[in-house]
Amino acid sequence: MKKRILVSGGAGYIGSHVSVELIEAGYEVVVADNMSNCDTTGIEGVRKITGRTDIPLVEMDFCDAAAVERLFDDYPIDAVIHFAAFKAVGESVAEPIKYYRNNLTSFLNVLDAARNHGGCDVLFSSSATVYGEAEQLPVTERSPRLPATSPYGNTKQICEDMLRDVTASDPSIRGIALRYFNPIGAHPSALIGELPRGVPNNLIPYITQTAIGKRACLSIFGNDYPTEDGTCLRDYIDIVDLAQAHVAAVTRMLEGRMKEGYEIFNIGTGRPVSVSELVTEFERVNGLKLNYRFAERRPGDVTAIWADTALANEELGWRAKRTLAETLASAWAWEKHLAGE
Ligand code: UFG
Repeated sequence: MKKRILVSGGAGYIGSHVSVELIEAGYEVVVADNMSNCDTTGIEGVRKITGRTDIPLVEMDFCDAAAVERLFDDYPIDAVIHFAAFKAVGESVAEPIKYYRNNLTSFLNVLDAARNHGGCDVLFSSSATVYGEAEQLPVTERSPRLPATSPYGNTKQICEDMLRDVTASDPSIRGIALRYFNPIGAHPSALIGELPRGVPNNLIPYITQTAIGKRACLSIFGNDYPTEDGTCLRDYIDIVDLAQAHVAAVTRMLEGRMKEGYEIFNIGTGRPVSVSELVTEFERVNGLKLNYRFAERRPGDVTAIWADTALANEELGWRAKRTLAETLASAWAWEKHLAGE
């Protein structure tokens, strides 16, 4: 019998790529999503790529506890990968109640339903944001979590703690938190990718939309940081590599290979890249010129963060494989696909 994985928020950017990799690794997938931040492009892409037209999409809100219980009644679930959450840092500062209510309630309901149904393995989608402006780089999983600088970041810390405490109290639930660095790029088929609504907050969609002519000019936020070229350093991780880390982590849980009931892994490449370097590489790889200018720093941005990936490499047997060039080509192919080119 194939193991069944519930992917909450599975119609979105990361969830759709993870669903593809899970199916290709031989898992059954149930996608559940309230479709508040995406359309059906993601799930349709997953069905097309995998040839599995029968992958269920359950439209539901994870803040509705009864609906989550029903979902667990309807499908025997071996593991949950929980993505369903709001993710805009700036919006979370303006609307903290919205973020706390949605991100905490939905995860609480998942944990409660898992417990009420005899337990299951839970993978939580966390973020490098929990490290804040780290004093020592690269960050390891044992680096201190600094006080969150946004309600969004705080929900990531609180959800990690919820998972830690629930797994400590209940041996029928095991948990892994994956701390993502900066996921970018798209599936090589160009059938799924990032689909931001409105003006993109993140760098890559802003770059690709500028390149295609949807935006006039990219603003590089700050060139007076204490880095070599003055722009911020990040660890950009390919979305398919990131998705494969989820397969490795879920398999580790399902095969009972965890060393503790709750584990944390950094998911990045281990390589810092500056914003200017990224822009130059995007231009080089795709043979185009990008219209950009240097602008003021963006409030809340850290100067530099990148991952020590040794733990994920050793324990998950996983490492990032795609080159930055391949990833940036995939991001551009996806933008062109959206434009119908
Ligand atoms: N940047 C620009 N111009 C843009 C957009 C971004 O110069 O138009 C720069 C940012 O200043 C930053 C880098 O590009 O230096 C990356 O920015 P992103 O917004 O793409 O990513 P962040 O590193 O800010 O965001 C990530 C995750 C969030 C997380 C956040 C915590 O995407 O989930 O780190 O700081 F909350």
